[in-house]
Amino acid sequence: MIVLALESSCDETAAAILCEERGLLASEVASQIALHRVYGGVVPEVASRQHLTQLRPVIEATLSHAGLRLDSIDAVAATAGPGLATSLMIGMSAAKGLALGLGKPFLAINHIEGHLLSPFFRTETQECGPALGLVVSGGHTLLVDIEGFGSYHLLGQTRDDAAGEAFDKVGKLLGLPYPGGPVIDQLAHRGDPGRFDFPRSMRDSGDFAFSFSGLKTAVRYLLPKLPDRSDATLADVCASFQEAVVDVLVSKSLAAASAAGRKTVAVSGGVSCNSRLRARLAEACCKAGLELLVAEAALCTDNAAMIGHVALNRLMRGMFSPLTADIDPNLRLV
Ligand code: KG4
Ligand code: ZN
Repeated sequence: MIVLALESSCDETAAAILCEERGLLASEVASQIALHRVYGGVVPEVASRQHLTQLRPVIEATLSHAGLRLDSIDAVAATAGPGLATSLMIGMSAAKGLALGLGKPFLAINHIEGHLLSPFFRTETQECGPALGLVVSGGHTLLVDIEGFGSYHLLGQTRDDAAGEAFDKVGKLLGLPYPGGPVIDQLAHRGDPGRFDFPRSMRDSGDFAFSFSGLKTAVRYLLPKLPDRSDATLADVCASFQEAVVDVLVSKSLAAASAAGRKTVAVSGGVSCNSRLRARLAEACCKAGLELLVAEAALCTDNAAMIGHVALNRLMRGMFSPLTADIDPNLRLV
């Protein structure tokens, strides 16, 4: 079974080919970051026009890297949501057209499920769970109890900004290039995480909800009071802000794993690239006797391999989507 998967929910145009026996055969991501950087964030109209021109070359490059022709594909999958409507419809329409033209099944895939299961992609057994899943991306921050493939219980999510959104907004406040997350991660290496005492919102709320908008506001109020705008001070702000985000994510993830009785923590989404989050989670999981699964960096940010991974799991269970399936910008995981 060979599946071609497309992902176009936000600002990455991506395609991947996965084989049931041989795993990931090819994965291509055409990032639009440079294009959106001048605006300080993603402009939906610009993103969809770019998907339109990039999708075909990306699919062709993916087929070529896999050494396959379209007629070897057994099914075509695409992200149905959540995401930007005008971006989602490009990938979905292309996938439906290909499936129809090839006379092969079509699969509409949930982007959050793609992230959630990405840490299991290259594991030895490839079993998806049981585990406590933490999805931390630009659009989502949620804790999910994963019983197994297709069986998820939402334990909690953010009430306002997603963790990645907080990184990006703080990056903007600090005058850093978009997206702020990776830049703050880099700068924080040289900073003192204890210099500024930022709020750890909802860390001790006793539930599994998050809130990051107050933290962003705290950074904004601090800026005019800074003694200077030196590189050293900027690095201290980045390190202190990052520490506040990481503190909350680590403490809630461990509490959720314990409440759900899970022995594995599976972390995914763009923010799971963060070096401090990885280090602190590794330390905390080791102390608590938990296994930590984090996908390799290329599978953490948006990509089509994670969409193909979910699609293959569906195909193996005989699950397909009708060609009448539509995009849903607000699609939920459960
Ligand atoms: O999963 P993703 O590619 O897209 C969404 O589904 O949202 O995540 C993108 C987010 C951005 O907010 C970006 O700033 C953040 O992931 N990000 C990071 C790092 N790398 C990417 N945040 C913190 N540290 C990083 N190293
Ligand atoms: Zn994503």
